[in-house]
Amino acid sequence: MSAARHLLGTPGTGVVITGGASGIGLAAARALAEVGRPVALWDINAEGAASAAQEIAQRHGVAAIGLAVDLRNPQAVAPAAAATRAALGSVGGIVHGAGTALQTGIGGVTPDNFDAGMALHVRAVIELVQAFIDDLKAHPGSAVVAISSINAWFGNAMIPIYTAAKGAVVSLVRSMADELGQHGVRINALSPGMIDTPILGDMRDGMEQLYGPRIFAGRFGRPEEIGSVIRFLLSNEASYITAAEIVADGGLRHSQRP
Ligand SMILES: NC(=O)c1ccc[n+]([C@@H]2O[C@H](COP(=O)([O-])OP(=O)(O)OC[C@H]3O[C@@H](n4cnc5c(N)ncnc54)[C@H](O)[C@@H]3O)[C@@H](O)[C@H]2O)c1
Repeated sequence: MSAARHLLGTPGTGVVITGGASGIGLAAARALAEVGRPVALWDINAEGAASAAQEIAQRHGVAAIGLAVDLRNPQAVAPAAAATRAALGSVGGIVHGAGTALQTGIGGVTPDNFDAGMALHVRAVIELVQAFIDDLKAHPGSAVVAISSINAWFGNAMIPIYTAAKGAVVSLVRSMADELGQHGVRINALSPGMIDTPILGDMRDGMEQLYGPRIFAGRFGRPEEIGSVIRFLLSNEASYITAAEIVADGGLRHSQRP
């Protein structure tokens, strides 16, 4: 292992990854396991989380567990945290990647789907940190990554709940970074651009036609290209980065192309 590779694997504590059964969360779990970090994949998709954890444990020889957790349900966090601690031995990293992009426009927003969206994307960041705060404080180099989106900045009529939630994630991270910093714990928001994962659904090709030409990198991103940024942000290589919003979007947010 090269020296740089070694640093990306420090600290060697376990990491909880929500949304770990698919897309960006799964890519992050694989990247972290590749440098020796144990991983717990939390996902509403129980089967997907379990099979991904099994594959990761076999391939990388690290402890890996998949757990069925619905992050909209605050009661689900404590039992999953206990199971994670038991399986990984230590927890010094959290990635909150679970998410959905509900298309409602203004007319389709209800108290229930609004509250559920905010609970999943925003409230869960706080609940995860609350559940693991003693673990994070106990292990030097602990860090948290909350996945936001470039949609925190773009105005898209179809996804008001998602947009509001992703904006809130960036602001929330700044607030949490203050208190966590007093304990040596870092927290950052990571805003991906257009990344090829199942969340794009049947909108994918239309979005590529619409946004593809505007992306300076010339293409959609791959989940691995976000997983490696997450691994970096959770490592000692990123020891002076906290309260930041890191944008990984191939230049889309700054593009003035038509
Ligand atoms: N793919 C993109 O272009 C893109 C861009 C910006 C931000 N993001 C964000 O990245 C994160 C990961 O998304 P992805 O692209 O990998 O999509 P994905 O659909 O591949 O993964 C999302 C995962 O979250 C899980 N999930 C959904 N609701 C859940 C719940 N209530 N409790 C627990 N797990 C739940 C799903 O089962 C799935 O495994 C999301 O927060 C998404 O908003 C994605």
